[in-house]
Amino acid sequence: MRITVIGTGYLGAVHAAGMAEFGHEVLGVDIDPVKIERLSQGQTTIFEPGFPELLRRNIDAGRLSFSTSLEEAAAFGDVHFICVGTPQKPGTNAADMKYIDAVIHGLAPHLHRPCLVVGKSTVPVGTARRLARLISELSPVGAEAEVAWNPEFLREGFAVQDTLQPDRLVTGTASSRAELVLKDVYSSVIDAGTPHIATDLATAELVKVSANAFLATKISFINAISEVCEAAGADIMPLAAALGHDSRIGPRFLVPGVGFGGGCLPKDIRAFMARAEELGVSEALDFLRNVDRVNTNSRHNAVDLAETMLEDSLTGKRIAVLGAAFKPNSDDVRDSPALHVAQALHERGANVRVHDPEAIDNARAAHPALNYALDIDKAIEGSELVVHLTEWPVYRQLDPVSVVGLASVPRILDARNALDIDRWRDAGWKVRAMGRPVR
Ligand code: UDX
Repeated sequence: MRITVIGTGYLGAVHAAGMAEFGHEVLGVDIDPVKIERLSQGQTTIFEPGFPELLRRNIDAGRLSFSTSLEEAAAFGDVHFICVGTPQKPGTNAADMKYIDAVIHGLAPHLHRPCLVVGKSTVPVGTARRLARLISELSPVGAEAEVAWNPEFLREGFAVQDTLQPDRLVTGTASSRAELVLKDVYSSVIDAGTPHIATDLATAELVKVSANAFLATKISFINAISEVCEAAGADIMPLAAALGHDSRIGPRFLVPGVGFGGGCLPKDIRAFMARAEELGVSEALDFLRNVDRVNTNSRHNAVDLAETMLEDSLTGKRIAVLGAAFKPNSDDVRDSPALHVAQALHERGANVRVHDPEAIDNARAAHPALNYALDIDKAIEGSELVVHLTEWPVYRQLDPVSVVGLASVPRILDARNALDIDRWRDAGWKVRAMGRPVR
């Protein structure tokens, strides 16, 4: 099958290579000529484990190529996946649909033969039907260019695995013909026994935002209880472990800390609320306002705890921040809790030095006022407080004994509850962790 993937960001680049890995002929399309040039040469534009190999293997096999032309895409593909971003619209909670609309306006006038346009981006429910009307107006083949929705659940850091072996496949279609085409596209995933939920367009759109809203709620739930633990002198870690053993709850996404960030969860719950309001059911999603508020509070709580640890004054204090990416195994700093906290510490007068194994360039571009260190020792050297904000394995593997002499005052705040804090205490560090009692 000949497939185009339009938008080669975190989602589209990996999806394009994944489709080629399934044996399809794939053309990846993006408006950014620099990105397309690099991808064409097999150079990755994002940090994603396993992606460089997947990309090169499929380019070398001749199944994967790249272009900046939507006209070429229209001529090439039987199926067109739309993978462009739907960021938060400035000044509102709603999703900004300008990139999706621009793709449709650029692609549809060139669609001269029957094809399937498949949305993967996270969108407000109702978008697929609106796009179907738009495409049938704009395209020479009219309604023969059909629309389907196939939400993407991939997690950054696991994008290759989630693309090649997804937990589930969700396809939303308006005709049995479209459903058959998608079954063909994903035959290797379906044959591998992956659960497949075939549904209508609106349900498929809603599955994605509902899943993200549920995950965000789970994280904010444990962070809310963490605040209560701190106030009551209780310990969130054994509490979370006890909750997680209930198989109805499960242990994942129950790690307390500075909460969720990234390009998806924060803006998706806001866009979901905005859409519910348009649909006249805003009260149904009112709880998400609190989910968002608890998440923001978790970041503020980390800053306050850092200040408490530094005798209530941040002015002029040297602080080492471990982590800049919104989560480990990613160089993505969009809405990163780590950088939010680092910036707040800086704005309250601290001298902050940030380390991250992969995200320093992106962090520097987004937060130029902060200082950065290329190795962990340099970040910790002379610090009066270390704040652990992104749970990269290298930080868990740090030997607290060998770095204790680097700090000017050995104090550490584990704002991700990922370190073995007893080991740090035994090595002479004064330790605090979010939601855990003072010892
Ligand atoms: C998310 C969804 O998981 C994915 O299905 C969707 O396609 C895109 O959005 P992603 O943004 O890559 O994926 O990150 P995810 O692994 O879900 O983590 C989101 C945030 O939650 C991170 O900032 C992470 O640090 C935080 N988190 C996660 C917690 O604070 N506590 C936890 O227990 C788990």
